[in-house]
Amino acid sequence: MLKSSLRLQRRLVLKVFVVLFLCCTISIFYHSATNTSGVTRYKKNLEKSMKLKFNYLYNNFLSSHLNLDSNKLFRTKFEFIKKEKLENDWNNELWYINEDVLQNLPVEVSIPPFYYKNKVAKPPILPFDPRFTLAVYYKYLEKQHTSNPVPFHWADWVDLSKLHKYVLNTEEDDFCKRLFDLSEHEELIKDSKMKPVDQYCLLSDKTPLGFEITDFSGPQSPSNRELLGKAYLYSKAPSPVKIIFLGSDDEKGSIQADVQSYSVNDYRNGLLHNSMIKDLLDAKAIDANVPLNVVKTFEDLFTKTTSTVENAQLKGQSIEIPPESFYVSGMNVISELEQKPSLSETEKNYLDSMRFSTSTNDPPKFFNEAILLAKTPQKWLGEHYDWRFFNGLTVGNEEQLLSLHRLVKNYLNFARQNGIITWIAHGSLLSWYWNGIAFPWDTDIDVQVPISELHKLGRHFNQTIIVENAGDRNYNFDGLGRYFVDVGSSITHRTKGNGNNNIDARFIDIDTGLYIDITGLSISETPAPSRYDNFINMDPVKKAVVDEHIVNGQLNHVVKNQQLRAYNCRNNHFSTYEELSPLMLTLVENQLSYIPKNFALNLNYEYDVKGLTEKNYRDYIYLNNFRLWAKTQNILDYQSSPARWVKQYNSKLNNPKSKNGEETQKKKFSSKRVVGVAEKLAIGQLTVSDHLNLLQKNDVFKEVYKTLQFTKFHEMEMEKLLRSDMNGVTKLLDQYKAQANVGGGLRPDIFMNKLQHETDKQNFVKEANKIAKLSEVYQKLKKASKEKTESN
Ligand SMILES: *[C@@H]1O[C@H](CO)[C@@H](O)[C@H](O)[C@H]1NC(C)=O
Repeated sequence: MLKSSLRLQRRLVLKVFVVLFLCCTISIFYHSATNTSGVTRYKKNLEKSMKLKFNYLYNNFLSSHLNLDSNKLFRTKFEFIKKEKLENDWNNELWYINEDVLQNLPVEVSIPPFYYKNKVAKPPILPFDPRFTLAVYYKYLEKQHTSNPVPFHWADWVDLSKLHKYVLNTEEDDFCKRLFDLSEHEELIKDSKMKPVDQYCLLSDKTPLGFEITDFSGPQSPSNRELLGKAYLYSKAPSPVKIIFLGSDDEKGSIQADVQSYSVNDYRNGLLHNSMIKDLLDAKAIDANVPLNVVKTFEDLFTKTTSTVENAQLKGQSIEIPPESFYVSGMNVISELEQKPSLSETEKNYLDSMRFSTSTNDPPKFFNEAILLAKTPQKWLGEHYDWRFFNGLTVGNEEQLLSLHRLVKNYLNFARQNGIITWIAHGSLLSWYWNGIAFPWDTDIDVQVPISELHKLGRHFNQTIIVENAGDRNYNFDGLGRYFVDVGSSITHRTKGNGNNNIDARFIDIDTGLYIDITGLSISETPAPSRYDNFINMDPVKKAVVDEHIVNGQLNHVVKNQQLRAYNCRNNHFSTYEELSPLMLTLVENQLSYIPKNFALNLNYEYDVKGLTEKNYRDYIYLNNFRLWAKTQNILDYQSSPARWVKQYNSKLNNPKSKNGEETQKKKFSSKRVVGVAEKLAIGQLTVSDHLNLLQKNDVFKEVYKTLQFTKFHEMEMEKLLRSDMNGVTKLLDQYKAQANVGGGLRPDIFMNKLQHETDKQNFVKEANKIAKLSEVYQKLKKASKEKTESN
């Protein structure tokens, strides 16, 4: 107890230290500065003191003291545990760290025979398999050489298997009423604002589904949410404008393909019915008897075709943001586009959007999330998903971590390869500060862009699908992720207004519906926070300009913000030019990314000392020596009985398939949850062998194994950043690039992960046959019931 109160005291001392320190520096420089150079000095010192503060915090709270990375005993035992684990990985839980598995991933799919044999019946719908979709599109683009538009239907890009039974069941039925009308379930819909079903569901014989979802439905049950999104994609959602295939590195860049009949939704444009595969077979670009290898087709395309990006890529250790990027006039954009002789599909859409945005004062909410019924337990979780791509709640599941990690990876690669200036912000910047990796409890990701870049996204990439690079730089499997870029319809509004549209754009994972929130920073008439007032008051020139524009005692905030170079998003978060620019290159989750130069200032405004030092958050606790957030329960269980922990989680002892495996009694650990100060202290005193014991549990081991090298880099980078040793940062990054797979995924691809656990799904042709068989059964049933009604 004595020790813990000492610790509390230390905290208090720290807080006092920080506050005093800042007050002193600010007042000293305030009084000495009365001219422009004084302001500059004042700002410089503010930055410096902030860095000192962060340096202090980082060294005292986040740095590790056991130095596991260079501890010989730890390294040797770590390798031993790994070996033992891989030898006993009976349920493939550790496939992502197993070289043997990684060398032999199921990256090939055979072409189903109905494509080339007349006698084989076509199933009414294809099984979802992105390996097949991507391989065909890669081959098709390679064969074409030109930029002819490609056919598209959502069924090839999003898993719509939940609709299969409706497509296969050709019986007539009032699907809309039967599925979505909950008016008889009074308890269920209590307190929910239900929309009449006929406003979003229509019976239709134009689609094999039998009904169309035409619009967002308002709140619904979780399972209906999935059906509604999928049915919308199948029957009504406009197809994207184009597809951008990301390359494995910035030198290769991306390759893009326009989509035929953009905005139309016709299931006959999908791979089941379109002529892409037949064309490829006829042209002998593919061979019916040779399986398609998604990594090989990726390699072929990218070695034979040159990149077709619209904008220059972003390169270099730092980026000066052009100051004019923070102001765009919607009216100027409109007149520029009206004078342009020909507009691309995205430009036409963008022009419409600009006209709409500039002519409305009260813009409607643009993004619709997967809103659940008020009575659903944890109903707020639905808000983290785009309704169209919702595929069930993932919060707390492994899938959530995979999805969010791959979102960051692909967003950053997309932005860099296509010349969009962007940086991570808010909670995502905070988690980067800790260990370079997202918090495990995160549900979304935040990034910011200068307003010019938001317009660029609208003008060139709105309604575009971004496809992950199937192969990495060495043409090993990388990922099959697919993302949708959606830019709001009122981006010329730069103040909060009706509050409907705080988020300007989204980058959405179409496998899960999770997304990255993109917000634009711009000059606006929103009053800047008082923390910037000194910058005006201390600068006579700026002060004169601001005063000149005072009318009837009212400040002109646009003028003031221009003088401050202070920019805001529609949720009133402000940053100044000096806080942001030049952006600096770093690694976020092992991906190249830019961050604001003075990230410490941003973090300091947004989070207090607690956010930067508190190692206990929700169900997690930060382990300095692993540089990771671990489930608190795990640590408490371990501490309650280390021996039992090892027995329970050791892979060899628990392998049911090995002869050595003994039946271990799975007794529950105590259910202690709340972490008191004393326990926190004990956690701080975990030894090297405690850390080794913790690794016995697979999920701890997996996480540590995949991140240790990267988080070490982050820790060393942080030390240099906080000392403003920019040369040191550059050198460190170069060194790290030479020894690590920068850009590689720290976490597995969602689909490949699924194939590792549902191995029957690896065979695409078999899956297609299953559907064909099922369809036959449905046809027979239909025939039988028809005969029955006729004979009656
Ligand atoms: C993006 O596309 C959507 C759908 O067509 C449209 O409503 C929106 O206004 C567009 N946004 C911009 C900035 O072009």
